[in-house]
Order: sequence, then structure tokens, then C-alpha cells
Amino acid sequence: MQPAAADALVGLDIGTTGVKAVAVSTDGSVLARAESPYPLSMPQPGWAEQDPHDWRRGAERALEDLRVVPVAMGLSGQMHGLVALDGADRVLRPAILWNDQRTAAECAEIESRVGLERLIQLTGNRALTGFTAPKLLWLRRHEPDVYSRIESILLPKDYVRLRLLGEHAIDVADASGTLLFDVARRRWSEEMLDALEIPASWLPPAFESPDVPGAAGAGDQAAAAVGVGVDRPGPVSVVLGTSGVVFGALPAFVVDPEARAHVFCHAVPDGWHAMGVMLSAAGSLQWFRDTLASGDGYEALLVEAERWGPTAEGVSFLPYLAGERTPHADPNARGAFTGLSMRHDRGALVRAVLEGVAYGLRDSVEILRQLGVEPTVGRVSGGGARSALWVRILASVLQLPLERTEVDAGSAFGAALLAGVSAGVFADVHEAVARCVRVTDVVEPDPTWAAAYDGGYDRFRSLYPALRPLEAT
Ligand code: XUL
Repeated sequence: MQPAAADALVGLDIGTTGVKAVAVSTDGSVLARAESPYPLSMPQPGWAEQDPHDWRRGAERALEDLRVVPVAMGLSGQMHGLVALDGADRVLRPAILWNDQRTAAECAEIESRVGLERLIQLTGNRALTGFTAPKLLWLRRHEPDVYSRIESILLPKDYVRLRLLGEHAIDVADASGTLLFDVARRRWSEEMLDALEIPASWLPPAFESPDVPGAAGAGDQAAAAVGVGVDRPGPVSVVLGTSGVVFGALPAFVVDPEARAHVFCHAVPDGWHAMGVMLSAAGSLQWFRDTLASGDGYEALLVEAERWGPTAEGVSFLPYLAGERTPHADPNARGAFTGLSMRHDRGALVRAVLEGVAYGLRDSVEILRQLGVEPTVGRVSGGGARSALWVRILASVLQLPLERTEVDAGSAFGAALLAGVSAGVFADVHEAVARCVRVTDVVEPDPTWAAAYDGGYDRFRSLYPALRPLEAT
């Protein structure tokens, strides 16, 4: 191993496509990066699973490849996934992930057991198929054998924590996405556990993000927000990852009476945030490339898309390839191309994908505004943010300047900053952000495109209700 930078802060993100690791110095400069991919299994339509052992192996490999000795490590990861363990901490079945849609019946059951209004008051959210609690109810109904052997449950990155550090623990940001957490009081909800008949002994102790024993931690969206400097109300974080997210820090805890956006604890102690989540953002473009453009890379597709003007002569794309959360909360929603003519080619379809994802994110921005988030600028990150075309489209659709920050290591970078707070390198998350997050460029909305996209957005908004009667259930 190379001599380590004495002050290396390491962040590990246990993502959906792989582990991303970054080592940074105390001024936020990147010392090393590593990635270790793993597969995603979709054993039935709407299901999404992963083997927790792959996360562990991926984390170990990525840590090794970084070739630094960390002074502190932080963990972030895909949220909501259920890892069920027996009394000897053995994994009982593959983890059920955030984008798995099998639990519609259990969500309805939770909303009727608890009452929708009470559920929203308690957890800040409604029951969504991706969340953790409905997965437990699904196991109880469909795999009683597995259910009867559960002694504890963990979320994905906390399973890695257990394997690397021997600790059962979780942070309040990730715990917020279980639907078992009292988000206003920042502790497990006895009322939810009682109503759903889930033993409190299964749950790990919950800590503020910088205080998790062994390694600071946060769900990937809260960590990504810290990594782009969204630690307090101001800029919103816009993520173009597999999922797409608009995330704003809240001045105080509020709930959306209709729970169209999620309200969760932030990774900043005593902070909350609201976010809208679309399930297939850069994931839509990846699907397009894999199924309709095999052999060609993203570069070629984006060049073809650039030949078309905004709205590509009326082609629209609905990005609901895996159902949708915000704003529809509909696991049966499906994707569509509409408005095709003989003139359209592959580039037009790609353009429609980029625009459809941007319109989906605009839905979230509109909802966050109604919750008191007042965005004047967005900080964009995630794989899709590497495309200049996509960021220009997004800025024009959202009608917000979009800033990129120096380190594009997403949630892993935020996790490294949280590690620095836990090690006392920074006094708090605000100081970590002030010292380490630097804006490098800003993409302004294009006024001509923005005008065209207002019309495109209206058409986009009308598509879901029009196509909904065609959903297969
Ligand atoms: C957030 C969510 C996704 C995953 C993706 O609520 O479900 O963003 O965390 O990794």
C-alpha cells in the first residue's frame, strides 16, 4: 500500500450499480477514487434485488483500490432497501431494493391500518412501494419462513457497516425512508411499529449522521446534498443519477398534506429536507442505450440528440419505466414515446428521453415550491450531469441556473465530508461545506429553449392522465 495522505477522509457510496469510493483531503481535494460494480437482479417484473455480499465485496475492493489509510470513513448508500438478518447476522434472502415495486397491496394495507393522515403526520410520507416497511409486510405474507427467522433488519450501507466495522447502527436520514421513523422527533416510531406489528428489537439504534459509531452515515440523497453544498435552505440539489432527485433543505419540519414529496431528516443535525424522487432518470437513458443502441456509447447518442431543436418536433417521452414516485406514487405507471412521425430518428428519441426526465424533475421543483423551498439555483450532480446538453436542457426546463461543483463524486464525497465532521476535522457540516464545496461553472437557462419547454411541459403533464387507463395492473 502507498503511504497514505495523513489526512485522508474516505467516503463510500453503496449505490445501485456499484460502490463508489473517494478519498479527499481536508480542503476537499480529491486524493483518490475507485469504483467497483455489481449486478442488479430483476427476477420478476417490477422486482429489484441485490446480493448484500456483493456490496460487501464491492466495498472491500473499492477501499483497497483507493490505496489510502483513512483517518475517518463515511458511508452513504441507496436508501430504503431491506436486508433481513437472522440471529447470527446471516443474510436471509437477497435484499429488496428502493426501486422494487412488488408491495402495492402492502402499501394500501399500511395506509388503511394507520390512516393516511396519521401516517403522513408521523412519518412525513405516505406508504410508497420502495420504502422499507411495506417490504417487511410483503415478506410476512409471501415468505413467512424467512420472516419468522428475522432477528434484525438493516439498510444497504448499514449492512456494509456491520460487515466492515461490526456495528448495528443507522443514521436519521436513512431511517426516515423506512416508514417506521418519527421524522419530526428523529427517533423510531413506536406507534408505527405497533400498528404494523414489527418488533422494535429488529431495528438498529439511530444517530445523527456525523455521530454514527464507526463511520458517519447518510442515505445517498442527503449525502449527495451535503456534497454539493445543500446543507441549509438556499440552492436545491438536482441529481441525474439512476434515479432523479430534487432536494431542498427546509427551514423547519413541515409535511405536505398530500405527501407528494418526501419529508426526511437531513444529514445535518436538526435539519430536515423535502425531496421529489423519480425512479428512472439517467436510468432511462441507460435503458435506451442498452435496448435500442447496443454497441453505441452515450457520446454518439448525445451528438444525435443535439441535432434536434427543443421538443424534437413534438416527440414526448414519459420516463416511468419502473413506475413512478413523485408526483404520481404509482407503481403501475409505464413509459411511453408519443408524437412520433416519419421524420423522427434515433436522435429525436434520445432528445425526448433527456427532455422527459427534465420535465419529471420539474414536477418535483413545483411541489417543493409549495412546501416553502424557494430555489433560485440548482446544484447538479450524478452521471447525467456530465452531459452539457442534458444540463442545458434541464436548466431551461426548470428555468433555474444550474451550478456544477468541483468534485463530481456525488454521495461518496458527501459521506467523506460527514466523516470529517465525525473526526473533528470540521466543527460541523456547515464548516465542512464552506471549506470543501466549490462551484466551478454555471449553466444558465436558454430563453428560447425555456419558452419551447413551457409548451412541452404542458404536453408532458397531460400524458400521464391520458395514458393511465391503459396501465396493466
Ligand atoms: C431516494 C431513493 C433513491 C435511492 C437511489 O428516496 O429511493 O434515490 O436512494 O439510490
